Order: sequence, then C-alpha cells, then structure tokens
Amino acid sequence: MVNENTIRRWNGEFSHKSPDEILRFFIDHFKDRIALSTSLGLEDQVLTEMAVRINRNIKIFTLDTGRLFSETYDLLDRTINKYGIRIQVYFPDASEVEKMVYERGINLFYESIENRKLCCAVRKLKPLSRALNGLDAWITGLRKEQSESRNNLKVVEWDKNNGLVKINPLLYWSEEEVRDYIDAHNIPYNPLHDKGYPSIGCHPCTRAVEPGEEIRAGRWWWENAEAKECGLHKR
Ligand code: ADX
Ligand code: SF4
Repeated sequence: MVNENTIRRWNGEFSHKSPDEILRFFIDHFKDRIALSTSLGLEDQVLTEMAVRINRNIKIFTLDTGRLFSETYDLLDRTINKYGIRIQVYFPDASEVEKMVYERGINLFYESIENRKLCCAVRKLKPLSRALNGLDAWITGLRKEQSESRNNLKVVEWDKNNGLVKINPLLYWSEEEVRDYIDAHNIPYNPLHDKGYPSIGCHPCTRAVEPGEEIRAGRWWWENAEAKECGLHKR
C-alpha cells in the first residue's frame, strides 16, 4: 500500500537518480499496473525509448482529442513502427463531443475559459480517467523548467485527482538534455519542434513561440498564465 511515508521515502531515494534508474525501479515495482502517458512530445519520446528498453511490454497510452496536429498523428505511427510496439489510443466519448459542439460551437474554447475547460474535460480528462482505471501508477514527461506551476513538483507525487501514484522521471532535465538524448539515440520526434513549437498540444490551442518566449507561451496563448493548465496535471 502506498502512503505519504512511502512517497516521501521514494522521493528521498530517487530525486537524484537518473531517469533510467527511476523508470527501472517503478516499472519493476508496479509491473502491469503502471503505464506511460505520451503526448508524443519530446520528453515523452525520450521516455518511450527508455521504457521500451526496460520492458517492451510496458503499457503506453495517448489521448487523442480529435484536434491534434497531423504531424502528431504521423509521429504516433512512426513511433509504433520504429519500436514494434502498441500505443493505446483513447478517444473522447462521441456523444459528449457532439452535445458540446452542438451547444457551444466547434471552436468553443476561444469564447471563454469555462468553454475551454469544458473542452479539455470532455476531450482529455474523461478519457484520461478511463486510461488510468485499474492502474496504480502513471508516468509523465513533466519537467520543472516547463512552467512556474511545475517548479515545485516532485519525482513521485500522489495524484489525488485520479487516486494513484504519478512518476515524473525527467523532472530535473533541461530542454538541452532532452534534445541531446533525442539526437544521441536517433529518436523520432515531431518536426514542429524545429519550427518554433517547444510544447505541442491540440492544433487550435497551440501556436509557435518567438525566440526568448517561455516554453509554454504558445499553449492557450490568449489566456493568462495562471489559467494555462488543461487539468491533466491539476494540483
Ligand atoms: S498539458 O497538461 O499542458 O497538456 P503537456 O503537454 O505539458 O501537458 O504534457 C505534460 C505531460 O502530460 C506529457 O509528458 C504526458 O505525459 C502528459 N500528456 C499531455 N498530453 C497528453 C496526451 N494527449 N496524451 C497522453 N498524455 C499526455
Ligand atoms: Fe479542446 Fe483546446 Fe483543450 Fe484540446 S487543448 S481539448 S482543443 S480546449
């Protein structure tokens, strides 16, 4: 049973370990009750490479909101083919999307924060709950550097929204370390990263950033900084 003490002990033990060591321990510890959650971003591509080396049968899933970039779909295909693995794709409930779009419009998210949060709930959070159902832990590509709100995260967190452990093996890595690993291992990645998109989510809610802008400045760019989480990592 994982309790607060276990989480504290794990953080003491793993905060200074490499992402590979962190993954090895937790994949072995949780066996088939852990999964890697990938958005096909740079960090998640690093974790996929590492996790598949540790255990080729590791569960990997992605949430297809229906509004992703075509480059992201292509990368999903390339990744599956390169590693010879399966990545389970979770879709939103069709009737919920139909109702939302009928009542609030196809591009409702630009109208208000309430609409944007509803869209993220229907297209991401509910499918995430289904993906996490029956698991004891999930692995994400969160890094401290990505935003102020991520700066106080720990390698091991209790995810109280979903009632399971969350592991963030790349928490202390810099963008440069991620890039270097991608290059060194010839890992497939989204070509949009080379066109000014450091952080990629849904197409209508992601724009390129200018040099010097923050990593997540292009996500929900019309909203102020505090509102800018879709809820996957609400704390
Ligand atoms: S978000 O909350 O703003 O969308 P971000 O894009 O920074 O998150 O990604 C952080 C981590 O959340 C990723 O490394 C991945 O583990 C998880 N994640 C984000 N989007 C998805 C998705 N569509 N499918 C699966 N996991 C995702
Ligand atoms: Fe909807 Fe935008 Fe959230 Fe994607 S990021 S689920 S399109 S509001």
